[in-house]
Amino acid sequence: MGGDQRDRRSLKLGGHRFVGGAQFSDLAAVNFRKDVLEGLARPQKALPPKYFYDATGSRLFERICRLREYYPTRTELGITRKHLREIARFAGKHCALLEYGSGESLKTRLLIGALEPSVYMPVDISADALRAAVKRLGREFPKLGIVAISADFSHPLSIPAYRGNARRVVYFPGSTIGNLRRDEAQAFLKMTRGQVGPRGAMLVGVDLKKDANVLHAAYNDASGVTAAFNLNLLARINRELGGDFDLRRFAHYAFYNPTAGRIEMHLVAREAHAVNIGNYRFAFGRGESIHTENSYKYSVEEFRHLASNAGFRPARLWTGARGWFGVFGLLAA
Ligand code: AVJ
Repeated sequence: MGGDQRDRRSLKLGGHRFVGGAQFSDLAAVNFRKDVLEGLARPQKALPPKYFYDATGSRLFERICRLREYYPTRTELGITRKHLREIARFAGKHCALLEYGSGESLKTRLLIGALEPSVYMPVDISADALRAAVKRLGREFPKLGIVAISADFSHPLSIPAYRGNARRVVYFPGSTIGNLRRDEAQAFLKMTRGQVGPRGAMLVGVDLKKDANVLHAAYNDASGVTAAFNLNLLARINRELGGDFDLRRFAHYAFYNPTAGRIEMHLVAREAHAVNIGNYRFAFGRGESIHTENSYKYSVEEFRHLASNAGFRPARLWTGARGWFGVFGLLAA
């Protein structure tokens, strides 16, 4: 939360406004270091999944999205395509569309095409990802007003002022909400409810509960892309924080935890050894793990309940044929 307001800079680039930028990158580097040192000092070592997405990690994630076993991306895209007109009618044409995530995806472009928002505001932790998205969207939608916001959306953020009093709609696709614990997800929805105001709405993509074997395959793909994505977090610590992780000494491990209703990803030490990051030293026992990600899965009822408790009315739900993924249309209640 801290001083991110103070550290914001606004800058114009190719007719579009950027909020955040270079100043924010310095801040992000400090936070990365702090979060890594803190996370590795815990009894159950853990690292926040938001740090997966450096340039290499983002590329690996794009490959995950194209994997045969990884159904969420293509399922959500199919749902969005099929119900695009209804989704656009729900959100309302010419609304102010705020997206958590850089919004370079095909589904975002579909939505923008159908909604013709009065302004599009992508929020992303990565300034590079934002720049790429703005460049591409600016080319594809020359009349679209874009305000890019470089910020960590897991912290409260104030939306910059813009002309008009268009209805605010937050778009949060990709089941990114699955990274949050249930209590965090509820707090996050509450914060969003505050941002969109009494006339606002939210479109949120949520991965739904299903056969554990399907889930297991999606996070343990045969070509090892998910393993590479997971291990890249250690490579990033080596690159950016001067760590000496030996990636060969860690194994990707992902499983569905039915009690918690989530996929857990870990990196498991293959043998007892120690790792150095600057002046800090972290001991690993054989089989000890770093918990790198949770990916929560919801039943329709569970998610409706969560939304209701956050001040939204779960008005609409679009799902695919197998009920594997849901796009929820929430209205400010
Ligand atoms: C981007 C958080 C939705 O949880 O499925 C994919 C990330 N991790 N494979 C997910 C991820 C491993 C993804 N989310």
